[in-house]
Amino acid sequence: MAEKEVVETSEAQIAVHWQEEKYIYPSTEFIAQANMTDKTIFDRFSLDNFPNCFKEYADMLTWYEYWHTTLDTSDAPCFKWFVGGKINASYNCVDRHLKEYKNKAAIHFVPEPENEKIEHITYQELYARVNEMAALLRDFAGLKRGDRVTLHLPMTAELPITMLACARLGVIHSQVFGGFSGKACADRIVDSGSRVLITIDAYYRGGALLDHKEKADEAVAAAEKDGQKVDKVLVWQRYPGKYSAKTPVKDGRDYFVNDLLKGYYGARVEPERMDAADPLFLMYTSGTTGKPKGCQHSTGGYLAYTAGTSKYVQDIHPTDVYWCMADIGWITGHSYIVYGPLAIAASSVVYEGIPNYPDPGRPWRIAQELDVNIFHTAPTAIRALRKIGPDEPKKYNYHFKHMTTVGEPIEPEVWKWYYEVVGKGEAAIVDTWWQTETGGFLCSTLPALAPMKPGSAGPGVPGIHPIVYDDEGNVVEPGTGKAGNICIQNPWPGAFQTIWGDRDRYVRQYYERYCKNPDSKDWRDWPYMTGDAAVVAADGYVRILGRIDDVINVSGHRLGTKEIESAALVVEEVAEAAVVPVAHEIKGREPDLYVSLKPGYQASAEIEKKVMDAIVSEIGKIAKPRHVWIVPDMPKTRSGKIMRRVLGALSNKQPEGDVTTLANPEIVEQIKEMVTKA
Ligand code: WTA
Repeated sequence: MAEKEVVETSEAQIAVHWQEEKYIYPSTEFIAQANMTDKTIFDRFSLDNFPNCFKEYADMLTWYEYWHTTLDTSDAPCFKWFVGGKINASYNCVDRHLKEYKNKAAIHFVPEPENEKIEHITYQELYARVNEMAALLRDFAGLKRGDRVTLHLPMTAELPITMLACARLGVIHSQVFGGFSGKACADRIVDSGSRVLITIDAYYRGGALLDHKEKADEAVAAAEKDGQKVDKVLVWQRYPGKYSAKTPVKDGRDYFVNDLLKGYYGARVEPERMDAADPLFLMYTSGTTGKPKGCQHSTGGYLAYTAGTSKYVQDIHPTDVYWCMADIGWITGHSYIVYGPLAIAASSVVYEGIPNYPDPGRPWRIAQELDVNIFHTAPTAIRALRKIGPDEPKKYNYHFKHMTTVGEPIEPEVWKWYYEVVGKGEAAIVDTWWQTETGGFLCSTLPALAPMKPGSAGPGVPGIHPIVYDDEGNVVEPGTGKAGNICIQNPWPGAFQTIWGDRDRYVRQYYERYCKNPDSKDWRDWPYMTGDAAVVAADGYVRILGRIDDVINVSGHRLGTKEIESAALVVEEVAEAAVVPVAHEIKGREPDLYVSLKPGYQASAEIEKKVMDAIVSEIGKIAKPRHVWIVPDMPKTRSGKIMRRVLGALSNKQPEGDVTTLANPEIVEQIKEMVTKA
């Protein structure tokens, strides 16, 4: 019996194979103003000049003490950058800009309701608010250098302010995406060991003022059950002075930040002088097992890398108005709304709501009003806006010089709409491929130096040297048309340092497979495995096909199939659960869920609903499957392994292939009938 056939369904397997597209060149106007037009940058950042090339990025920052060692590999593959250097991220993103830019907007906060005024927060105001919040966190919440604090905040200006206040004190923040459930927040509180939770009473999404405080109550209760006591919940108010949630305020535990801040008016807090390798934040992401992992990012290396790539790939100048429509609860927002752009004195837009509220013209009205000239979003948003408002961009008078797509592969057709309609044929596009773990971009074109190719991310950015291996560890050469596992040959300053509290998992998951010698202290022996499948064309442009592991990319957000399956198993009646990715017109991928029931239970709409509800409460709405299929049994190999490949094929209406080696081949027809009928 061929166990070899037990291939799990992965995104890469259902990837579409697009045609190689023709180059499109950036305009001379764009090139004339670009930050990086010097082709020798690739020589400067070649492997021969590694690791010292990254001094160029570190020198964009202000250091209290300069480092003595660029890269310390003594604890490989936990690499340390800029050792000996002392630095503070909050100082670099705020204080140092005051001299030149104190009167310039650092953040434009755009509330979702259109009748509420946009808030323009200057660097001076940001400085005052970050300092006052830092004083509160230190003196009221008792937080100090090295402590972890969990933030569960939506997209309002309070989120970057809170992050920068933490960074000022050397407190490690762990921001949980606002759309995640209280339970998901609790898991992250427990794993990070946070005794303070920072949240908000309510926020707008899709026209509704959502009660967010109730999630904090759930989170604190669930965390306590798991042994982590939260003694303070700091609650920002969406409307200062007014409580917009229904859930009661718990005396002695819940405090309104807006009230407390009055006691810190005018406070100034000296920034902590952090070691470059001290952690700045944790960002949890889905992995191959059920438990989300806390990617630990450094202070000096991370900030240098996000500053450098914001300048050269995003082409941000202090005079630009830059809008990244991602959520700060994901890595894109950390690196390319907050830390990277603010480190180089950008004016960064923070938009509270959804792109199509109240109509699909909204993003373009915001762009027009603020005169946004750099725009950054994900294919899922582009697909949605293209579908519901294909002609909307033309109605508004805005001009982008530069646009980014990030988070998932973008179909050439969608790319072209983005280029011609949203960008009005004027904007240079970068398709940036990277990950939570990598801190910043891995592959992209430098916008003024290389042409765009729809559907391809581009070559490695300066200092990133990709390599593709097949399953046996042989190098797959560019231009052969063969796909393989894309890895990065060298470390870089933006890379995460470890998984919080689990170094073994870090080594196992990212380095073990292609490690040349596990005892080696030489970085050359430790290629980083990304977990994506890719094809590299002869010109070195990388086309990402999708995940090779059991992670599904839904609307550009990573979800672990195991996480969804364990949420389904919380329902008493459920015996087994299997999640497979299914192609979706807007979201790219969507999870499809199969469950079988314990003996004695009958399939019913009620159980289906219970399963759906469990997923929403365990993880959040984003993890909702397309459908819950209650099947009489799972297709299994004779050794009892669920054949997700077969389920994946059925969900995607693809041929299911050879099923004769299954223990129960007859079940496939039954499931097929069920899925095609619906
Ligand atoms: C996918 C988001 C194709 C990829 C920054 C990666 C992409 C995962 C692209 C990381 C892109 C990200 N083209 N695929 N431009 N960008 N991906 O951690 O599969 O949320 O491994 O980081 O998204 O998702 P994450």
